[in-house]
Amino acid sequence: MKTIIPQPLPVPLAKAYRLLNHGPTVLVTSANGSERNVMAAAWNMGLNYEPALVSVVIDKATFSRELIEASGKFALNIPARGIAAQTLAVGRVSGRDLDRANHVDKFSAFGLHTFTGADATLPLVNGCVGWLECTLIPEPHNQTQYDLFIGQVTAAWADARVFSDGRWTYGADTPTDLQTLHYVAGGTFLTVGDAFEVSPAAPLG
Ligand SMILES: Cc1cc2nc3c(=O)[nH]c(=O)nc-3n(C[C@H](O)[C@H](O)[C@H](O)COP(=O)(O)O)c2cc1C
Repeated sequence: MKTIIPQPLPVPLAKAYRLLNHGPTVLVTSANGSERNVMAAAWNMGLNYEPALVSVVIDKATFSRELIEASGKFALNIPARGIAAQTLAVGRVSGRDLDRANHVDKFSAFGLHTFTGADATLPLVNGCVGWLECTLIPEPHNQTQYDLFIGQVTAAWADARVFSDGRWTYGADTPTDLQTLHYVAGGTFLTVGDAFEVSPAAPLG
């Protein structure tokens, strides 16, 4: 794996939803006590500007869910193509099945390096281009019935090479390793394509 050194710049909370607007697959990171974990999640979206809210589906069978429900927090990390293989792997293996007694977790198992942002206990993943730290807003009915988790974003960052002034800046010159990942199925992802500007169509008269 190539090491991509993150260049995180703070994103205003009211603009944090824009990190998710184009539909990237995310890595959900979580921690509780001495345990930490990471899983892939394609089913995520922004939910509100102010306060900044996000939602993500986290299946009952996941180890991540146990840590998030216990700690009341999680982070959404937006992986780039340079860690596509690791993104797929942490979406196929459960942290529960690793040798946790010997401190093997999914980060170490798949060579994912981490750093911390505002919350010193919540791992953020290198090789990502956006990061949103979130406090869980408990909604037991949604969580139990639909596996749907809502978080209030408490801090957000984006990689300055691909996000500035509140928007993604992808273009033909962007290194492919920095492109976001958009899940199809199996081992297939799409990446971001060309940006284009459009004016709204006039109503038919
Ligand atoms: C690309 C991709 C996207 C995924 N999206 C979701 C998702 O949105 N929600 C979910 O619950 N599981 C999703 N999964 C499956 C989890 O990542 C998987 O169950 C993972 O092993 C859970 O890890 P854990 O038990 O260590 O928490 C996805 C898997 C992949 C590969």
